[in-house]
Amino acid sequence: MSLIYNIGILSGIQPEGVLRVEGAAQGKTGILENAWLKIEDGRIACFGPMSTCPDSSVMPGPDRASLDASGGMLMPGFCDSHTHIVYAGSRDSEFLDKINGLSYEEIAARGGGILNSSDLLNRTLEDDLYRQSMVRVKEMMDKGTVAMEIKSGYGLNPDAEMKMLRVIRRIRETVPAAVKSTFLGAHAIGRGYSHKAYVQAVIDMIPEAAKWADFIDVFCDEGFFTVEDTDRILSAAKGLLTPKIHANELAVSGGVQIGVKHGALSVDHLERTTDAEIEALRGSATMPTMLPGSSFFLGLPYGRAKDFIKAGLGVALASDYNPGSSPSGDMRFVLAQGCIKMRLTPVEAFNAVTLNSAYAMGLSGDYGSITVGKKAALILTEPGWDLTKLAYQYQTPYIRKILV
Ligand code: NIG
Ligand code: FE
Repeated sequence: MSLIYNIGILSGIQPEGVLRVEGAAQGKTGILENAWLKIEDGRIACFGPMSTCPDSSVMPGPDRASLDASGGMLMPGFCDSHTHIVYAGSRDSEFLDKINGLSYEEIAARGGGILNSSDLLNRTLEDDLYRQSMVRVKEMMDKGTVAMEIKSGYGLNPDAEMKMLRVIRRIRETVPAAVKSTFLGAHAIGRGYSHKAYVQAVIDMIPEAAKWADFIDVFCDEGFFTVEDTDRILSAAKGLLTPKIHANELAVSGGVQIGVKHGALSVDHLERTTDAEIEALRGSATMPTMLPGSSFFLGLPYGRAKDFIKAGLGVALASDYNPGSSPSGDMRFVLAQGCIKMRLTPVEAFNAVTLNSAYAMGLSGDYGSITVGKKAALILTEPGWDLTKLAYQYQTPYIRKILV
């Protein structure tokens, strides 16, 4: 048992059973000022106003199981439903190409981009890959991420894709954060394959990948995989792996529609969408997920999150942490960009980086809000913070303690 008391603001309260928030509900969250919260067996047992604090006798004492929040805000930890943090080495040389004006597509066409990371990863031993990746996992956890999804997709042949999935499994087994695993064999055409042969190779990898991964992803976009490829791959994965799709980053690709058709848990990126994508998502169980970090880093348009919410949809935000388009896993910066660049209210952006992002990786039954029964995966801030200040003063240190 442990008790946190003198909480200035308990933020992110949701009733049991709310697995995502959409439309107007995305702009609302439960707040309780001057509160306590009790944790039992790693889960939120109960909470309430200080006037009802249960074990007040332990409050001033040295009981190590109780924690004086001293007026800090207590909120759910960040949930990051889209990352590529298992990679080898770095792509800092491409950073100069980018500064000198080459686009993401031009860098990829010169043999850089995903294939560059694939070459590095194929040369890296599994233990070393794990060690390099764990540095990033730790970085994310230190910044308050308590649940994350990690994709394969830099192997691009059966051996190296499975190596990535094993590393993700090993991360899951060693860190206290929740980790979900996605097979992204269809990230780019692997070296030495024709387009057609590689799509078949991805399909052939699915049964083995399904033993290791929770989800399947396809980079359904101009210059990568077509809607037809995506349809074939997702049909082959039916019943084995739930889809989460890269769509509409480089072009209006049709990726949203094919993702919805296959019951995708999320469609991600969405820098380029029309009203047809909004219509396709209406009434579906698919979470539109936007990645402002890649808009920032690549100079792409920001997703139309506000329009999606106005249309009654929910939106999730994730970091896309990867070496090519978003070399950052800072979910607080993602939250801030949601407000500053996408004009979400602080509460809309907060729900996007917690509950809705947890939904987008199938974890919102356990993560993403202050709800009795959910994991006590929480951030306690220094005194004087609230959700607005968190986004507004977006670089000031604010974390006092992270509970996972
Ligand atoms: O989500 N767009 C495709 N994949 C990644 C980038 C991968 C890379 O450049 O290494 C993304 O942006
Ligand atoms: Fe991505």
